[in-house]
Amino acid sequence: MQPDPSSLLQQALRELDYGQQPANLYDPIRYIMSLGGKRLRPLLTLLGGQLFTDELGPLVKPALATEVFHNFTLLHDDLMDQAPLRRGQPTVHEKWNANVAILSGDVMLVRAYELLFENVSLPLLPQVLRRFSQTAAEVCEGQQWDMNFETETTVTIPQYLDMIRLKTAVLLGFALELGATLAGASATDAEHLRQFGTDIGLAFQLRDDLLDVYGDAATFGKRVGGDIISDKKTFLLLTALAQATAAQQATLAQYLGQPILDAEAKVQAVRAIYDELHIRPQTEALINEYFQAALQHLERVAAPAARKQPLHHLALQLMDREN
Ligand code: IPE
Ligand code: IPE
Ligand code: MG
Ligand code: MG
Ligand code: MG
Repeated sequence: MQPDPSSLLQQALRELDYGQQPANLYDPIRYIMSLGGKRLRPLLTLLGGQLFTDELGPLVKPALATEVFHNFTLLHDDLMDQAPLRRGQPTVHEKWNANVAILSGDVMLVRAYELLFENVSLPLLPQVLRRFSQTAAEVCEGQQWDMNFETETTVTIPQYLDMIRLKTAVLLGFALELGATLAGASATDAEHLRQFGTDIGLAFQLRDDLLDVYGDAATFGKRVGGDIISDKKTFLLLTALAQATAAQQATLAQYLGQPILDAEAKVQAVRAIYDELHIRPQTEALINEYFQAALQHLERVAAPAARKQPLHHLALQLMDREN
């Protein structure tokens, strides 16, 4: 019997060799990769592949490309978001410095490409590299929109949804599509899985935005309130701005786009308005809508229902995750 997908990934992650010298180029990579995380993207690749094959071995290293790429984006994202904590530990730019986070991140992107081109069979390689490159560029586009929106006052909910589709959801979609493609799925099935992943990804980022306000710092592993502090135009904030009374508008205007005098006071004031406006259940309702839309795509994949069970289960777990 084959080991389960998670054990396959853990084993292969332990065996990855990123490089040695200079130590301050490669140590941060070992550091961030050793802090754990959910390993969601490579798991999606393997579970996507498992719909069509029992032979997961050849999918493991390509799957890890998505994890190494994801961790590269975290190094740069934490620097751009000035985040102090990641997975309950100091971020790379805090533990080393900004330049280290930039260059270690860059070499991780290179390593992600290597994991693909050294482990994907020649006939599939051009397509896989083209789709990975497209996805990686989209993640950067989403990330830049996210940063731009911090200082914009007229962001709409459709703009927000497109931003999170790019920065987060397309990579989950790609991870699933990759697994399906490598396992020999039809183009139609690979496309349904990509769309399943994209819808799960939208729900996943909405949940992330919710946890950023309401999470428990100990389990979340990131600084709670960070999005409020940096004026991130999340679904929560945009919905609150659309529904606020004149008094609530005035309070929000006191804080948004203003120099921060007391970060904790800002977080508390904005969270109180979210509570008054019932932003949390409204966000949960939208998360559920995307979850339901995702399931429709999973249903349409031509594979036995029993094989879909692990993906269905994982998606369900993600919807009320606490970290
Ligand atoms: C964090 O991703 C960045 C987002 C897209 C919200 P994860 O929540 O998957 O982070 P880890 O890998 O489990 O730590
Ligand atoms: C995640 O956005 C986007 C990435 C591509 C990393 P966030 O900025 O919300 O991610 P976290 O909350 O820091 O993990
Ligand atoms: Mg961030
Ligand atoms: Mg960010
Ligand atoms: Mg976040």
